[in-house]
Amino acid sequence: MAYRDVYEGWKADPEGFWMQAAGQIDWDQAPSRAYFDQGPAGEWFADARVNTCWNAVDRHVEAGRGDQLAIIHDSPITHSDRGITYRELRDRVASLAGALRAKGVDKGDRVIIYMPMVPEAVEAMLACARIGAVHSVVFGGFAAHELAVRIDDATPKAIIAASCGLEPGRVVHYKPLLDKAIEQAAHKPDFCVIFQREQEVAQLTPGRDVAWHEFQFGVEPADCVPVEGNHPSYILYTSGTTGQPKGVIRHTAGQLVALNWTMKNIYGIDAGDVFWAASDVGWVVGHSYICYGPLIAGATTIVFEGKPVGTPDAGTFWRVIQNHKVKSFFTAPTAIRAVKREDPNGELIKDYNLSSLQAVFLAGERADPDTIQWLEDQLRLPVIDHWWQTETGWAIASNPFGIENMPIKKGSPSVAMPGYDVQILDEAGHPVAPGTLGAIAIKLPLPPGTLPTLWNAEDRFRKSYLGHYPGYYETGDAGYVDEDGYLYIMARTDDVINVAGHRLSTGAMEEVLASHPAVAECAVIGVADKLKGQMPVGFLCLKKGVTTPEDQIRSEVVAMVRDQIGPVAAFKTACIVDRLPKTRSGKILRATMVKIADGETFKTPATIDDPEILTEITTALGGIGLPAKG
Ligand code: COA
Ligand code: AMP
Repeated sequence: MAYRDVYEGWKADPEGFWMQAAGQIDWDQAPSRAYFDQGPAGEWFADARVNTCWNAVDRHVEAGRGDQLAIIHDSPITHSDRGITYRELRDRVASLAGALRAKGVDKGDRVIIYMPMVPEAVEAMLACARIGAVHSVVFGGFAAHELAVRIDDATPKAIIAASCGLEPGRVVHYKPLLDKAIEQAAHKPDFCVIFQREQEVAQLTPGRDVAWHEFQFGVEPADCVPVEGNHPSYILYTSGTTGQPKGVIRHTAGQLVALNWTMKNIYGIDAGDVFWAASDVGWVVGHSYICYGPLIAGATTIVFEGKPVGTPDAGTFWRVIQNHKVKSFFTAPTAIRAVKREDPNGELIKDYNLSSLQAVFLAGERADPDTIQWLEDQLRLPVIDHWWQTETGWAIASNPFGIENMPIKKGSPSVAMPGYDVQILDEAGHPVAPGTLGAIAIKLPLPPGTLPTLWNAEDRFRKSYLGHYPGYYETGDAGYVDEDGYLYIMARTDDVINVAGHRLSTGAMEEVLASHPAVAECAVIGVADKLKGQMPVGFLCLKKGVTTPEDQIRSEVVAMVRDQIGPVAAFKTACIVDRLPKTRSGKILRATMVKIADGETFKTPATIDDPEILTEITTALGGIGLPAKG
C-alpha cells in the first residue's frame, strides 16, 4: 500500500487502524477498544493490561532472540565497545527491578534517572517499566538546580545516577550535582543508587546512597508487572515559556503500539536489524528511539557515548555505522553541520563501508536544505527530515520510508503521519489555504503514544495546548502546507528556542538573568547560528547607580546560567543596553530584535513605544558581530 492509502485508511477508520496496530503487542489483557473519551484530551487502550519491559525485552527472548544483541554500547570516549544480548538484558533488568522493589519502589512510584550514555541508563528505564514505576530521566547537561526542580515536581522515591559523565576533555561530576540538587529540593528521595564508573568513583552518602552492584546483591529478580494501558510509563520534562519545565506524561499502551508501528513504517526496521539514534537518553529521541522503539521491535539499538566531531574525528558516525551494520540512522541536523564543517569533501566517509545503511533521519530542529543536499551527495541515500516534539513522542510528519519512499522536498519534513490531522490555522482558528503561513495545530484526538496531560499540571496542559484553538492541540510551531500536503515548519510561536537540537526556554534564562543584583530588566532571544541553528543572546538593562564594571556583570550572568540551567544552555553572550524595545502596553519586542540580529528586513511595529530604541539595539548587536556576515 502507498502512503496515501494508509493515511486515508486511518482517517476512514482510526479505531480499526490502531486496533490492528495493537495486534503486534503482547497484552496481558487485550484492549476492548482503542480510543477512550476520557481525561483532558482522550486516552488510548485504557482498559488493557500490559507491561512495557515484557514487550521490549522478555518476549524477544521467548521468541528465540535471546542471543541477539539488544544493546551495543559504543563509546569512543572510553574506547569501549560491548554488546548486551536480549537474554542478558532481561536478566540484568530483572535483577535491578527486583532490587528496586526490595527497597520499596512499587507501581506508580517515581524514579529519577540522571545518567550519561551508558547501557545502564537504558536498563534503569526498563527496570522501572518492569515493576510499573514511573521514570523521569534528567539530561546530564542540566545543572543541579534543574535537577532539583524536577525532584520537587516528580517527588521520586529513588534516584538512580552515575558517578560521572564524560564530555570530550571534561569529566562531568554527577555526584556533587546530585548532592546539591537533593540539598536544594524540598522533597527528599528515600535512597539513591549510584552506578560507579571506572573513570570516577564517587563518595557515597551513608544511609542514603547505595552502589549499583551491591544494591542488587542477593535480591530476587522481579517479573514483569502488568499495568493499565493508561498507566504512566514515564515523565519527561521539557522547556516551556517559564523556568518551570513541563512534565510530559507518556501512557504505557499508546507508547507500545505507536512506537512499534513507527519502527517498521517510518524507519523501515524489522526485528534483527540495527537501528541507531545518536541522541541522548535525556531527550525524547532517546526515550523513543534509543530505548523503547528499537527494543519493542526486537531490533538492536546503539547507545553511543561521543560527539559527531572530536571523538576522535568527523568519521565517528561512519565508523559506528560500518562496524555495527546500522540500517537506519537518526541524528540532528546540527550534528551533520558539525561533520560537514570538519570534513566538507566527505574524505572520511570514503574510509568506511556503509553498505548496511538504507536511510538517514533528521529531527530536533529545522533541517536546512544545504545540509540535506550535502549528506545526500555524500551518501547517495534518502536523507529524511521528520518533525515531532517531546509532547508527541513520535513523528507528526515524515517521509513514511517503510511504507513508501516519497519524493523529498528539501526544507519540508514531508507529510502528516496516520493519526495526525494537521491543520494550519489563522489567529481566529480558521484553516488557511495551502501556502499560507499560520499556527500548526492538530485536530484532537492526538494519536496513541502522545501526551495525555502534564504531570501535576492538568490546567497548564489545557492552557498551553488546548486553550487557544478549541478542538485542537496547538504545537507551538508555525508553518504552512503546500498543494501536495507537504508541511513546512518555519518558526516557534512561543519563547522556546532550539540550540544544537536542544529545546531551551528563553524565559528560563531570563529568570536567571533577572536574579542578578545589578539587572533591572532583561530579554533573551535566539539568534541564527550556522552550526547550532540558534544561539541565545541576552540583553540586560542595569539598575540605576550600579557601579560594577559591565564586563564583570556580563561574565557573572554567563556563569549564572551555566550554574543554574547547565552547560547545555550554551549561553555565552550578553549585551548591556539602556532600554529594551517595547510596545506601548509594555511587551518586549523580541521578534523584532531577532530580525535585527539575523539581518532580516523588518517593519518597525506600529505599536512600538519608542522606535529610537531599535537603533540602540542594532548598535549593541553590531558590537557582538551580529548580524553575522556570510
Ligand atoms: N552532560 C554534560 N554536559 C553536556 C552534555 C551532557 N550530556 N551534553 C552537552 N554538554 C555540554 C557540552 O560539554 C558543552 O559544554 P561546554 O560549554 O563546556 O563546551 C555544552 O553542554 C554545549 O554542548 P553542545 O550543545 O552539545 O555543544 P558542543 O559545542 O559540545 O557540540 C555539536 C556541538 C553540534 C557537535 C553538538 O551539539 C551535537 O552533537 N549536537 C547534536 C545534538 C543532538 O543530538 N540533539 C538531540 C536531538 S535529536
Ligand atoms: P523537542 O521537544 O525537544 O523534540 O523539540 C520540538 C521542537 O523542535 C518542535 O516543536 C520544533 O520547533 C522543533 N523541531 C523538531 N523537529 C523539527 C523539524 N524536523 N523541523 C523543524 N523543527 C523541528
